Amino acid sequence: MIKGVNGAPNKALLSAKKVSPKSASLIDALMLEKSTPDVSNLISNSNTNLVNDSSSESFTTNSHVTVLLDEAVQALAIKPDGIYVDGTFGRGGHSKKILEQLGANGRLIAFDRDLSAIESSKAIADARFSIVHSHFAGMQAELADMGISKVDGILLDLGISSPQIDEASRGFSFRYDAPLDMRMDQSSGKTAADFLASTTEQVLAEVIKNYGEERFAKQIARAIIAERNDGRAITTTGQLTKIVAGAVTRFEPGQNPATRTFQALRIHVNQELEELALTMPQCLALLAPQGRLAVISFHSLEDRIVKQFVRDQANRDDLPANFPVRAAELPQPKLTGVGKTIKPSAKEVKHNPRSRSAVLRVAERTSVI
Ligand SMILES: C[S@@+](CC[C@H](N)C(=O)[O-])C[C@H]1O[C@@H](n2cnc3c(N)ncnc32)[C@H](O)[C@@H]1O
Repeated sequence: MIKGVNGAPNKALLSAKKVSPKSASLIDALMLEKSTPDVSNLISNSNTNLVNDSSSESFTTNSHVTVLLDEAVQALAIKPDGIYVDGTFGRGGHSKKILEQLGANGRLIAFDRDLSAIESSKAIADARFSIVHSHFAGMQAELADMGISKVDGILLDLGISSPQIDEASRGFSFRYDAPLDMRMDQSSGKTAADFLASTTEQVLAEVIKNYGEERFAKQIARAIIAERNDGRAITTTGQLTKIVAGAVTRFEPGQNPATRTFQALRIHVNQELEELALTMPQCLALLAPQGRLAVISFHSLEDRIVKQFVRDQANRDDLPANFPVRAAELPQPKLTGVGKTIKPSAKEVKHNPRSRSAVLRVAERTSVI
């Protein structure tokens, strides 16, 4: 269980340089740090895109249209007899494509923390396929329980799925008035309403600012806490939307004023950045030589964690200048980046506007231990 659910945004996660697996103690630091974040570490040039968030959508869909389907599966360079992991099953778009490319002896193990995703996976009747109801940060332990210590490829398609956004009762969207839940895993953890009921104004402002890049974060936090102090618990998306609308005086044309606040709360409630930072080193440990990692991010906060992790593992030469060491003794790269980042084509974006902020990064494991 990841600690710090109700803490403020973790400053180590917001400062990409610090999200390095090189220090084993970093993960402990990520887990334990609950203190107020250093707001000076805020991502200045980030380009948080709200498209994968419920809030920016003006249309609804009942199913999930898989993003970068061909590109992501191709990036895995599937070996027919290999073992693959889909860390974010969703509605199984990528999983099905991976299975198509696997031979009779191949295996695919999928993960999802959402029970409705697990339920939908029952449609896949294939002995090569299994699914685990778990957050992907539990991947290494779950695979170890299955006797698997190495895999040939791992895919993460981050964020939430269209069914999660479009099902009112999940509380991800301000388009519906519903209980303010926002948990991907409704079987455990605290809801967004629980968080709003117990947090402080300062922590709330930091969550909204850091994860939503909302310039009216302080005003929104103040308005929410004032409502709570007046004895009105904030328990519905409708209530929250109204409070935010009253606190935000300027917002992007065509965008609901609550867009950024909803995104921030969702990221916080689901510890999305912590999950990713904890999972990257596990991917490294799990990948066999030439194994591939493919990650689709939907906003710059997650993409930055992936980019920095790959970069740190690819350029392991951060010794001080003139450090007396022979070239042959320098730490060798454990990962190499594969190609440039891949984005959806104009055709894909036209067909599926929710794909428009997607970025796919691919890396390959070297044989360095
Ligand atoms: C964008 S969807 C994936 C869609 C999928 N690739 C498809 O083609 O249908 C993301 C899925 O990952 C799940 N998810 C997100 N973060 C997770 C985490 N940390 N652990 C496990 N599942 C997660 C969500 O519940 C959601 O079902």
